[in-house]
Amino acid sequence: MNLLFFGDIFGKPGREGLKRALPALLEKYKPELVVVNAENAAHGKGLTPKIAQELFEMGAHVLTLGNHSFDKKDVLPIMNDPRLLRPANYPSRVPGKGSGIYTGKSGKKIAVLQLMGRVYMPLTDCPFTIGTHEVSRLRQETPIILVDMHAEITAEKSAMGWHLDGLVTMVVGTHTHVQTADERILPGGTAYLTDVGCCGPYNSVIGGEIKSSVERFLTGLHQRLQVGTGDARVCGCVVSVNEETGKALSIERIMEIVPLPTNLGEEK
Ligand SMILES: [Fe+2]
Ligand SMILES: [Fe+2]
Repeated sequence: MNLLFFGDIFGKPGREGLKRALPALLEKYKPELVVVNAENAAHGKGLTPKIAQELFEMGAHVLTLGNHSFDKKDVLPIMNDPRLLRPANYPSRVPGKGSGIYTGKSGKKIAVLQLMGRVYMPLTDCPFTIGTHEVSRLRQETPIILVDMHAEITAEKSAMGWHLDGLVTMVVGTHTHVQTADERILPGGTAYLTDVGCCGPYNSVIGGEIKSSVERFLTGLHQRLQVGTGDARVCGCVVSVNEETGKALSIERIMEIVPLPTNLGEEK
């Protein structure tokens, strides 16, 4: 079976890019489950119920979040939706859940777990300790486990890949918005990719409009986030899985340019 995962959806160009690219990718890979990181889906910061619904209608089965999980307070009423996951190592009193077990098209159980790194990231509990605990719990239900490791630095993501090698199907990174080219199957059978990259405007600073993003670095002053415009780049990966063992057979990166008009508009 195939599992399809897409990196951080950034604003309307990211959503529109995914919407246009997804039908052909679904036809090509016929995935059992489609998981999408949606932490930047609402104008680059956070998620709203309306946009979550838009992503589900496109074909996403599960949405993961990250450090921008709660940027839009509108998301709070839907944090109990089992299809929506925030990092599992947020303190337990934070709304929502960090993992779930879903049923793929063929009826197989597939677990999804999100963890968040701690280097240059918000304060959270230890992702390695929580990850170990969560994985042993999920493995009682299914050996097919997708892990979204939302982190800033490569070493922390790599360490998580090795830490969970042989215990999960895949450890793939999100958050940096730039796809890395280090996809591999680790010796224990876990597919690994440091960052799958983002689905968002191609001519941008990790999704943000170029002029205001550069100005922030020229002045050091906060600039209101503006979403870039124009063509989208849609980044993700597909992992082929031995459904009996849960081990990965292959991992392939996806990176597609989707032509878009510059006047898509964006809700504030
Ligand atoms: Fe992000
Ligand atoms: Fe992030």
